[in-house]
Amino acid sequence: MNHLDPVRHVRGESQYLDDVPVQQGTLHAVVFESPLAHGILRAVHLEEALLAPGVVRILTAADIPGENQIGGIVPDEPLLAEGHVHFRGQPVALILAETEHQAQAAIRYLRVDIDPLPIITDPRVAAAQGELIVPPRTFQIGDSAAAWSQCAHIFEGEAESGGQEHLYIETQGAYAFPTEMGGVRIISSTQGPTAVQRHTAHVLGIGMHQVEVDVTRLGGGFGGKEDQATPWGALAALGAFVARRPVKLVLDRMADMRMTGKRHPYTSDFRIGLDDNLQILAYEVTFYQNAGAAADLSPAVLERTLFHATNAYYIPNVTAMAYSCRTNLPPNTAFRGFGGPQGMFVMESAIVKAAETLGVLPSEIQRRNLLRENDLFSYRQPAELCNAELAWDTANEVYGLPKLRTEVDSFNQQNERLKKGLSVMPICFGISFTKTPMNQARALVHIYTDGSVGVSTGAVEMGQGVNTKIAQVAAQTLGISPNRIKVESTNTTRVANTSPSAASATADLNGKATQMACQVLRERLLRHAELEYTLNYEGLEIRDEQVLSAGVPADTNWEKLVSSAYWKRVNLTENAHYATPDIHFDPVTNQGYPFAYHVYGTAYTTVTLDCLRGTYTFDALRIVHDFGESMNPAIDQGQIEGGAVQGIGWMTMEELIYNEEGRLLSNSLNSYKIPDLYSVPQRIDVHFLETPGHPRAILRSKAVGEPPLMYGIGAYFAVRDAIRAFRPGHRPTFSAPITPEKALLNLYPTGVAEEVAQLAPTTTVA
Ligand code: MTE
Ligand code: HPA
Ligand code: MOS
Repeated sequence: MNHLDPVRHVRGESQYLDDVPVQQGTLHAVVFESPLAHGILRAVHLEEALLAPGVVRILTAADIPGENQIGGIVPDEPLLAEGHVHFRGQPVALILAETEHQAQAAIRYLRVDIDPLPIITDPRVAAAQGELIVPPRTFQIGDSAAAWSQCAHIFEGEAESGGQEHLYIETQGAYAFPTEMGGVRIISSTQGPTAVQRHTAHVLGIGMHQVEVDVTRLGGGFGGKEDQATPWGALAALGAFVARRPVKLVLDRMADMRMTGKRHPYTSDFRIGLDDNLQILAYEVTFYQNAGAAADLSPAVLERTLFHATNAYYIPNVTAMAYSCRTNLPPNTAFRGFGGPQGMFVMESAIVKAAETLGVLPSEIQRRNLLRENDLFSYRQPAELCNAELAWDTANEVYGLPKLRTEVDSFNQQNERLKKGLSVMPICFGISFTKTPMNQARALVHIYTDGSVGVSTGAVEMGQGVNTKIAQVAAQTLGISPNRIKVESTNTTRVANTSPSAASATADLNGKATQMACQVLRERLLRHAELEYTLNYEGLEIRDEQVLSAGVPADTNWEKLVSSAYWKRVNLTENAHYATPDIHFDPVTNQGYPFAYHVYGTAYTTVTLDCLRGTYTFDALRIVHDFGESMNPAIDQGQIEGGAVQGIGWMTMEELIYNEEGRLLSNSLNSYKIPDLYSVPQRIDVHFLETPGHPRAILRSKAVGEPPLMYGIGAYFAVRDAIRAFRPGHRPTFSAPITPEKALLNLYPTGVAEEVAQLAPTTTVA
């Protein structure tokens, strides 16, 4: 079945927030941001701005009727600044005007008095000053301290990875309408409609039942709208609530880039110990997470870094410690992989450091230490139905690692200015929200009297194809054509108390709930058929909209059956609740069985590096991926390609730069580069690993949203490999992204690089 949306997308028919026709009387809102990254907020002067043309009201913290608090995990984040400002771009006031242009124009008449305070942007500095969001966490198995004495080789080092801007095509925004009885209705571009509802109710001081949130689809979220759609929804709602008029608030691209949080930058220290057979005996790692100015989702992201600190490897003695460091940057947040990629980058750096020092290929260490069936992760869950070795070995069979290595080496012998590099990146990613209670979902299914079907769930479509998968589940379970099914908008009044669409678990959770509701409806209809058409219930089924009795077409079909059931007053609506079975996790001991299952895979990345310019082209990305039994290979392959390219962007070209004042310098698409058609690998091969899938996955089709991002980590190591082919013995720091600039600086001894940089032509089109 094809993805349902692309035809509508390319015809411009899909409705996004900004396509909602603007209602008469709508006010347009613009946010006034803190111009300083840290300080005491003495006063906000509104008088002049209130006189600007078209301005109707300007709201500050003093106008909030409920509590000025939107922190999800830790209550440390005001909706509008009060008393202090903690980052540049922090919302201070909301200007409501008749037009967007007028609201925008009024900004320059607003003034604030702020007494500056010292600014911290570096997580290690924050940790040294005790500026932590939550107490440090440690995941531990075995006894790493005791294990060092058994290690023949011990290596230490530092690794750091940068942040990443989500760059969803649709920027953050919301459109709020006052409703009768003092409530609000919010159309929001959010992954978490319930989060918007909950925090808005809290801020307005009303019940959640008075706040309706509706989401048709997002132009991308990538984690950036899991928690951080909330302020814009709550601000628009505040405006609508106070002004009694509809309020529309949409951030322009640069405001979005300035004001919202991103992937967490990390800096980390590692220590790895191996025996003579290259078996990893011990691993110690300390992560410093740059959380930004408020907790947001940082504690959960930090936790997932620890869950994935050993990637796809079994290590008997592990001590992994993590600090969530408070800095004066916008609060960083969920981003595809949710801290996992940051942990895995350090693990791979440690292995590569060991390999380079010992003079072996990293793949020799990687292969020898892959997880096997029932190996324990540091959190004590066993690797069950483990495909780490299968994915690795299949990649070798399908693509031939030694052959690729030989090709790269012989190319490098024959070429001076161009060097190729090769890396292998195995992945292992746990599926489930690590906070066990979040792993629940509901579906509400209506069969209408004409046989058409409406399905509502908590799933938000953000391009990942979840609506298509839900329609597929419903169609398959009911035995009817997907054309009869409409997946409705995500609405808090139809499906309540939803978890955000995140953790790659959306299709599993909401798909299973849909499946349960449809199973009940199917059974009820077949019971009705048994009575109405005197058929034997055993052996009754609906296939291709035909009712079959012991495989023989009966005298009725889907439409007739539904209609006759209605006239016999059979209930044609069902609501089902699904909660992932078996999972649990204790955040005090850091042990348990947090994941429904793990997803595995292996990627080979090859790159050609221009050693005069520092620029590079990825020749190929060759992947073997564990989809289980993919229910939609086209969508799933799209997720692999998109995720991997997003990961390559993070590791190579996307460079977020804040200056010491906490000001974002890479603040537009001029200065922040994401992969485009010219910079993606020239070929991406995706081989579907043949496995029976997992029973806790929807239709045994494993979650696919986040895991492929981590294939992109291989891009860093491929470029590094190419650098070392040009400059043998050189050890670049483990610092991502490895931009062309950084690659160039690594190709030559200090001084020479700068000279070469002067000579290099500026055009870099491959
Ligand atoms: N794919 C598209 N096209 N757009 C997105 O915003 N978000 C990613 C991934 N793939 C995203 C995407 C992230 S961060 C997650 S957690 C999952 O999709 C969420 O959807 P799922 O749970 O249905 O996989
Ligand atoms: N993954 C993604 N999003 C989340 C998680 C998680 O484990 N926990 C809370 N939000
Ligand atoms: Mo994805 S980072 O879990 O929204």
